[in-house]
Amino acid sequence: MTQRVAVITGSHKGLGYAIARQLAQHEGIQVVLTSRKPQDGLTAQQRLSEENLSVDFHPLDVTSDESVQQFTAWLQQTYGRVDILVNNAGVNPTQQPEEASLLTVQLATMLDTWVTNVVAVARITQALVPLMKAQNYGRIVNVSTEMASLSLMGSDYYPLAPSYRLSKVGLNGLTTLLAKELQGSNILVNSYSPGWMKTDMGGSDAPFTADEGAETALYLATLPEGGAQGQFFAEMRRLGGPIALSW
Ligand SMILES: NC(=O)c1ccc[n+]([C@@H]2O[C@H](COP(=O)([O-])OP(=O)(O)OC[C@H]3O[C@@H](n4cnc5c(N)ncnc54)[C@H](OP(=O)(O)O)[C@@H]3O)[C@@H](O)[C@H]2O)c1
Repeated sequence: MTQRVAVITGSHKGLGYAIARQLAQHEGIQVVLTSRKPQDGLTAQQRLSEENLSVDFHPLDVTSDESVQQFTAWLQQTYGRVDILVNNAGVNPTQQPEEASLLTVQLATMLDTWVTNVVAVARITQALVPLMKAQNYGRIVNVSTEMASLSLMGSDYYPLAPSYRLSKVGLNGLTTLLAKELQGSNILVNSYSPGWMKTDMGGSDAPFTADEGAETALYLATLPEGGAQGQFFAEMRRLGGPIALSW
């Protein structure tokens, strides 16, 4: 069986860690856990090794050209391939009071959020898709949120959160543009919403665990040939299966 190599950005904690753990439990997948803080990454790798899960680690700051270049060179030298990319790393300034209104939001915060949640995904995509193209196989999972659904923007249920929500709208747009560019190949790219989870970002009131949020990532990371391309999925746990969300 081909050993697939899976890279998960920002995977020393939260949802990224849960995705790394579940992919590592999947037969035939070698997980590369990444973190911009090497000590955090090594600690997470150690925790997984205590569960007898063999996971590799390499530092990766997705907002840094140099870090992405070093990571890509290491990946090429060590494995010569990448099969799965989960773009999980993200920031969310929604707790800042200015984020309650588009009229008060700090434009610098809006830009910083865009840089991590959208531009950094473009950066790592540009670095790794050529490796996928070389073997005509790839599964790219972009971690979005239902708060990015344009059809839900008028709902009172969600905080206004302009920096975060607009950045994830941008991420969803990136998914559809990349899917268009990859049309006809066996490289599949999709966005999904993991649901509101108990992580440092989601807080303790959230109804889901990160393990539950990881389930849809597993589904999208292991899609068969001819599977979904350029779609936006809801969390499987809540809806009992892979259900498309409206943009
Ligand atoms: N929690 C929720 O309810 C929820 C709901 C919907 C979507 N999401 C999405 O799920 C993803 C994971 O969120 P989470 O809840 O697990 O949050 P989290 O616990 O705050 O984790 C975010 C991860 O992203 C990493 N990160 C941020 N900037 C980075 C950079 N420049 N380079 C590399 N890594 C970076 C963080 O690393 P550091 O520790 O170094 O900062 C951390 O590992 C995010 O994309 C988020 O938008 C979360």
